[in-house]
Amino acid sequence: MAEKIPGKLTMEKLVSLCQRRGFIFQSSEIYGGLNSCWDYGPMGVELKRNVKEAWWRAVVQERDDMVGMDTSILMHPQVWEASGHLKEFADPLVECKACHQRWRADELTGNSCPACGGELTEPHMFNLMFKTFMGPVEEEANIVYLRPETAQGMFVNFSNVLNTTRRRLPFGMAQMGKSFRNEITTGNFIFRSREFEQMEIEYFVKPGTDDEWFNHWLEERLNWYVKLGIKKDNLRLREHTKGELAHYALGCYDIEYQFPIGWSELEGIANRGSYDLTQHATHSGRSLDYFDEETRERFVPYIIEPSAGVDRSVLAFLCDAYEEEPDKDEIRVVLHFHPDIAPVKVAVLPLSRKEPLTNLARQIHADLRPCFMTQFDDTQSIGRRYRRQDELGTPYCVTVDFQSLEDNQATIRERDTMNQIRIPIGELRNSLLAKLAGEDLFVLPPGGQIWKEENKGA
Ligand code: GAP
Repeated sequence: MAEKIPGKLTMEKLVSLCQRRGFIFQSSEIYGGLNSCWDYGPMGVELKRNVKEAWWRAVVQERDDMVGMDTSILMHPQVWEASGHLKEFADPLVECKACHQRWRADELTGNSCPACGGELTEPHMFNLMFKTFMGPVEEEANIVYLRPETAQGMFVNFSNVLNTTRRRLPFGMAQMGKSFRNEITTGNFIFRSREFEQMEIEYFVKPGTDDEWFNHWLEERLNWYVKLGIKKDNLRLREHTKGELAHYALGCYDIEYQFPIGWSELEGIANRGSYDLTQHATHSGRSLDYFDEETRERFVPYIIEPSAGVDRSVLAFLCDAYEEEPDKDEIRVVLHFHPDIAPVKVAVLPLSRKEPLTNLARQIHADLRPCFMTQFDDTQSIGRRYRRQDELGTPYCVTVDFQSLEDNQATIRERDTMNQIRIPIGELRNSLLAKLAGEDLFVLPPGGQIWKEENKGA
């Protein structure tokens, strides 16, 4: 049999892995699928929750100057007038006169239809907000919009948070949740969809200190990805040109990731100036300024906004973790997830389904599962089970064999090195906890051994 050669990651390979291992499925698949909508399966939902939790921990729980929010998706229609979304949140749409496909004019390189070469209509601006109706009567007066960003929910609560938490500048709010955009062109898996999740920070500062805080957040946000395992070489910052800037932004940088489709936006960090609070104060008639008790000055704070996509982050973590390695005549596909985001932290694998081995393995599983997300798997050969856990990105497998019944030890197998170590069952929990926390604390038990999987003939 010819040796298989490890290859580069493509979007097709990733989509196939995600489908095969229960990370992400096409929405409404049995009905032919709904374009650009995706369902997170059992592994995908764990991964996504872990990404969101890591973000929340870093930007809310581990900081003194941040608070969390969870605001509603539907908001007063005037919010979108004040924010400028009704007027400005639009892309130029063209339609092919021959095949009737629609395109974003600003993303086309030529003047003809990329699909059939047909002639295109003149561009017209297409608003990206989804409309629906509040209440049972479908009339103009009842139109509400599905929010296209979570940000506005935080701006309109500026006074509420200021007054109830007695915060002083600088401080920020963070929230994550669904946003909706009726994108003209979607695709590239979960990179651009019409329903997606965002993780947004609105950081309120005194004008004049905005550059300093802008730089602070650029560094914080870049390092968040690096700390969770993204390779530095796959990240870069790109400054928006004047023509690219959103209607509200004084300046903006994108954190870009080198996806299989090329360098693309992962997160935007914008200096929104005083635009949002001024607009909402004008349209609502309620003051949204700030009184600095030390300097006795009254002013409208500037806002620094690091705005990340949950789904794009998930995609970046998947891409970055993916590796194909030669393994004898086969290829081992492995997701080298950082332990904090790995969907399953530890898999417990009895070597056989025979008693009393299964019983012992179940006891070990019961002891470990209160501490972290675990999986119990007693199907197929041990080699296949390791491969499956590699594709799920599980950092550690605990293998229970017949010797375990005699010496009360089990084997921990590491995903990345495939090294194996035998350890007393009573020490499993603490060893794994330390290892998952990044403390490289394995100490060989007396007489213990480390060896490579291939030497074991697994
Ligand atoms: N509040 C500012 C704002 O929404 P944005 O650059 O339009 O800024 C922020 O969006 C992030 O949200 C993007 O960097 C991206 O990660 C994510 N995002 C935006 N549109 C998306 C879409 N259609 N599908 C998936 N993620 C999207």
